[in-house]
Amino acid sequence: MKADLIVGIQWGDEGKGKIVDHLAQNYDAVARYQGGHNAGHTIVVDGKKIALHLIPSGVLNKDAINIIGNGVVVSPKALIEEMKQFDNLKGRLFISQKAHMILEHHIAIDRAKERLRGSKAIGTTGRGIGPAYSSKVERSGHRIGELRDIEKLSSSLMDYFDMNRDILKTLKIEIPSKEQIKEELMLYKEALLPYISDTTKLVWDLLNDNKKVLLEGAQGTLLDIDHGTYPYVTSSTTISAGACSGLGLSPKDIGKITGIAKAYCTRVGNGPFPTEDFGEDGKKLRERGHEFGTTTGRERRCGWFDAVACRYACRLNGCDELAIMKLDVLDGFKKVKICVAYEIDGKRVEDFVFDLDKAKPVYEEMDGWERSEGVRRFEDLPKNAQKYIKRIEELTSTKIGMVSTSPDRRDTILL
Ligand code: IMP
Repeated sequence: MKADLIVGIQWGDEGKGKIVDHLAQNYDAVARYQGGHNAGHTIVVDGKKIALHLIPSGVLNKDAINIIGNGVVVSPKALIEEMKQFDNLKGRLFISQKAHMILEHHIAIDRAKERLRGSKAIGTTGRGIGPAYSSKVERSGHRIGELRDIEKLSSSLMDYFDMNRDILKTLKIEIPSKEQIKEELMLYKEALLPYISDTTKLVWDLLNDNKKVLLEGAQGTLLDIDHGTYPYVTSSTTISAGACSGLGLSPKDIGKITGIAKAYCTRVGNGPFPTEDFGEDGKKLRERGHEFGTTTGRERRCGWFDAVACRYACRLNGCDELAIMKLDVLDGFKKVKICVAYEIDGKRVEDFVFDLDKAKPVYEEMDGWERSEGVRRFEDLPKNAQKYIKRIEELTSTKIGMVSTSPDRRDTILL
């Protein structure tokens, strides 16, 4: 059996939560492969609000197991808090022993470095993501599996602090004592030990047993560390390829890949965004789409659908299909716009570019529609909304398999 994959096509917040939540009902396991608690979505179940940041969405399907892969950076503190929302996760949650930990000093470094960047700040979520991945790559990080031996782990952490004492002092970051560290790590060990396992073997076994596995990407393609709008990106491989290293799968293990994109575009944090609308339209998109971050509460920047970026993202991920989310947010606009090319130094360019900050959008304007909200069949969509979807399909050379017309799970058009 091959594992199916869901990946964000834009700058994150595409509404993956609704799709993964919807699909999780049909999967035996859901696995996260990158990112950390910088991601997040809120789901309402039986009137109760559940905020997910690290735990995969399969947690809402009582029969599914949930895997946090080695490519994820795990804040034990944040994970323990999140786990409190559920009664019993034993046998339903598995955390890779190889996943690196986000510890308090990573968060302090993230915030201190953002302050030092001043006007060039990335606009990180301040969750310690970049510093934790930096430690991993620098080979000074610590993995969840090391919680099994607190004495050894705390000594190793003290060695790290000793080596970096001057740097941390400059950043005004307080270094804890070994006793404080041990105390904190013990709490993590007590809470997490039953869940720490060899998730690589687990995923292999699931696939060998013909179980259905869903791989859940966090953030989006344009935030990918290699292929996104560097340096205004997150620190992980957000594209589908990240699922291989982030779980221990081979490319041959990946089956259907679905890219999730909003019918318009949003971005949080800084960095280039050619189709951003600074006027009334952008404001209307923000209000209608409730475009405020679930993790940080920040206002999202809003603008029109960028077909150039979407085509690039579909190719990078190898998308078999696209799911277009929040079509209803465009209801009532007299005209809707799609970016079909960029203009750079007076020249038209149809590919995604290295210097995205120099790109001006070339728009195609289409007539809008009154109401798509709640529609569940393609034929029932207003004609102009149908044309809009078909045009995106044409411009991105990718089949549109799903269109979402409201936050309700049932308001989904399958094509
Ligand atoms: P970091 O991941 O906290 O280091 O932040 C780096 C950039 O990625 C910032 O622009 C964040 O706003 C953005 N980012 C991180 N996680 C998400 C997400 O889940 N949705 C949207 N943007 C995100």
